[in-house]
Amino acid sequence: MTIAVKIRTVITCYDYPSARAFDESYVDMIFVGDSVGTNVLGYQSEIEVTMGDMLHHFKAVRRGVKNKPVMVDMPYGSYASIDLALENAALFWDRGADIIKIEGGESLAPTVSALTAGGVAIMGHIGFQPQLMSRTGHSVVGATADVALQLYRDAQALRDAGAKWLLLECVPEMVAKDITEAIGIPTIGIGSGKYCTGQVLVSTDLLGWYDLPLRFVKRYDRFAENARKAINRWVQEVVREEYPARNHGFRIRSEELAAFRKAIADK
Ligand code: KIV
Repeated sequence: MTIAVKIRTVITCYDYPSARAFDESYVDMIFVGDSVGTNVLGYQSEIEVTMGDMLHHFKAVRRGVKNKPVMVDMPYGSYASIDLALENAALFWDRGADIIKIEGGESLAPTVSALTAGGVAIMGHIGFQPQLMSRTGHSVVGATADVALQLYRDAQALRDAGAKWLLLECVPEMVAKDITEAIGIPTIGIGSGKYCTGQVLVSTDLLGWYDLPLRFVKRYDRFAENARKAINRWVQEVVREEYPARNHGFRIRSEELAAFRKAIADK
């Protein structure tokens, strides 16, 4: 799929029905993030997510998305060496990934070079890196000149290695702005302010599946509450014997029913 370089919005997605719905939305790109671990699988952190988990969810999403590019995350440990990165990236690439995202700064540049040389479109991920920093909880990265400068170097190194986009997570707004203006490839921000080229959000946060959104999350719906309400309505209708109604069931002709009843009575 040809991917518009200017991507304004990216949303995470982990399953087939959501993929179908998001594919029909205005969003530019669908992203199978390793946040599947904490958001869908009940894990404590991103470092528990395996290649098996990612492939399982990626394949479901890929089957549901027809109109938009699909990006997928390399999970923790899957790019511990260049050979491993090439082997695992191929598992996504051969199954229809359009972009592969990978966490890490300057030291990851040789891996990114090898992947891009192999024809894989890469989005780098710097700033807060959940796979590396999950134990510290979400916190800003780049709030001192030294750390901001390191982020800038990371961005340059990844761009020079061939990354086509950079995800900036929890980077101070003005640092994200300067990096975006200087780097010459699009940046996709989360918790990094409005000057990034585009924005990404975790769908379960945006839709309101959980009660504790992070500082940078804006909730646009209350899915968990709506789901509870719908389930409770169904339970009440079952208890009141309003559901299933006549039109929800199937019929048997009266002579067939009579024959059936006779057969069991004769037993
Ligand atoms: O996996 C994920 O959800 C991410 C976020 C930063 C969007 O990488």
